[in-house]
Amino acid sequence: MRILLLGAGGLLGRHLVAELPHHGHALTALTHPEADITDTHRLDELFRQPWDAVINTAAVCNFDLCENAPDVTARINRDAPLDLADRCHAQGAKYVQFSSDYVFRGDLERPLTERDAPAPLSAYGRQKADIEKEIPHRCPQSLVLRISWLYGAGGKTFMSLLPSLLASDSSLRVAAGKTGRCLYAPDGAEWTRLLLESPRTGLVNLVNDGDTSWEQFAHACLDEMDAAGLHPRCRSILEVPYADLGPNWSKRPHHSALDISTLSREFPPGPRPWREALAAFVRTQKSFAER
Ligand SMILES: NC(=O)c1ccc[n+]([C@@H]2O[C@H](COP(=O)([O-])OP(=O)(O)OC[C@H]3O[C@@H](n4cnc5c(N)ncnc54)[C@H](OP(=O)(O)O)[C@@H]3O)[C@@H](O)[C@H]2O)c1
Repeated sequence: MRILLLGAGGLLGRHLVAELPHHGHALTALTHPEADITDTHRLDELFRQPWDAVINTAAVCNFDLCENAPDVTARINRDAPLDLADRCHAQGAKYVQFSSDYVFRGDLERPLTERDAPAPLSAYGRQKADIEKEIPHRCPQSLVLRISWLYGAGGKTFMSLLPSLLASDSSLRVAAGKTGRCLYAPDGAEWTRLLLESPRTGLVNLVNDGDTSWEQFAHACLDEMDAAGLHPRCRSILEVPYADLGPNWSKRPHHSALDISTLSREFPPGPRPWREALAAFVRTQKSFAER
């Protein structure tokens, strides 16, 4: 496939750059400075070429920035993805866009399916809920992959930074009562490719298998680091209520585990368990530390 990847410098983008060319795809991967998704002249230029698929990983993921500047960030998180969906539909290209567990309120203590109605509490969540609803109408040949707690090498997310935090700090504070499911970026890239190569369209939840909490994930990361001989300094993991973490924390969902039974049924056995993926991530940190 001739694939255009936008936002290629981000966490998921970089892992797609590592994944796609190994499977025979002709990839054009553009970072933010190379293609701004709100720059319509640049998009006019890019869409003069014929694409089989366009993958958009560009977004503003900074939660507080979305809260504080909802109109500015909606241009990137909502308006530009809708424009890309229109352009893909006009050209007959498949469009791949990413959504988030933040489309949910977080008050249901069960895994959330593709059929559960979004009820976002935040600006970021509303931007994602809007694209989930609109993109399939504008581009029926599209995939909206709803992901959560993405982490991997080089990432800036809490889980991405955990091995270095646990290595350097004697104690760690984590959000209390936050349960959900995480996605290891190399697994996210592989599953995005598999879904793109399949005839599947529509909204699909995509995370590693099994629920966890930030506290449980941090303890598991400590165990994996101990087992890998990485000698973490941290010995105390403290749970902190949302109210003590900052003004916008109450707008983040408490319970937002994404149900992946659709994906696992259609593509058995589905994504691997989160603990296996975490062990693979810690091994990459070990080889980095040994360099
Ligand atoms: N990270 C998570 O835990 C998580 C969870 C759920 C859903 N998602 C979604 O998954 C997708 C990928 O997330 P990610 O973690 O890989 O994000 P990321 O690491 O923050 O990368 C996003 C990339 O988009 C770029 N970008 C921002 N504005 C742009 C614009 N106007 N034009 C072009 N590029 C622009 C950024 O460049 P600069 O750095 O130069 O701004 C950055 O390289 C996003 O749709 C995100 O909302 C992520």
